[in-house]
Amino acid sequence: MRKQIVAGNWKMNNDLAQTESLITALKAQTKTSNAEVMVAPTYTNLFQAFQALKESDIEVIAQNMHFAENGAYTGEISASMLKSVGVKTVILGHSERREYFGETDAILTKKVDAALANGLRTIFCFGEVLADRKSGNHEAVVESQIKNALFHLEASAFKNIVLAYEPVWAIGTGETASPEQAQDMHAFIRQTLSNKYGVDVANSVSILYGGSVKPNNAQEIFGKPDVDGGLIGGAALNADDFFAIVNAF
Ligand code: G3P
Repeated sequence: MRKQIVAGNWKMNNDLAQTESLITALKAQTKTSNAEVMVAPTYTNLFQAFQALKESDIEVIAQNMHFAENGAYTGEISASMLKSVGVKTVILGHSERREYFGETDAILTKKVDAALANGLRTIFCFGEVLADRKSGNHEAVVESQIKNALFHLEASAFKNIVLAYEPVWAIGTGETASPEQAQDMHAFIRQTLSNKYGVDVANSVSILYGGSVKPNNAQEIFGKPDVDGGLIGGAALNADDFFAIVNAF
């Protein structure tokens, strides 16, 4: 049975006081599903969040990391630094990192390798832009992103990898992919994995959907056979909305 996961990507939101307030509200929530729950605060709030949630069943994860172990990379954070504040999972390849910070497949390959070498679980993000979807090129784009950054790995590495399909045109827009669009792409991704690594590995990897998941659409999306949960942005900043999604299975 694949893990069901709901992860909240807080992006560049919440100072320390706002982080503490949201965590208090999250701890007051009741989880009624079997989903693993994760939240990704900003770097400056990771340790406080880890300390506040370490007795809970909410995992604190990172939004990014650099591929180097240390050195002259002003402003960057390494895997070992994340581990030192309790982080065990890191989001990599988010479309905002690709678009605004020039993260290429080659850079992401290095980041994935560094995360795995440090024993970190990786939530690897990918997805097409609207032009690719409109031209019918969306599967080719997604296949390329996955193959270029992940298909050098041994099959065993996938026990520490979660995939997150995030159509860029659905992120932050309120324009959610339909449940059918999500299922079609997730099934394609799983088949792509199976073609390379076999059906057992493909069926073991959790594939999350991200892009305007809200309390009113989560249940239908999560009900699809190849959707194993969600990577949540805006709705993760409200404890009631986030747990409405967590409990949507
Ligand atoms: O990483 C999740 C994020 O990109 C989705 O954002 O606001 O559309 O849920 P949002």
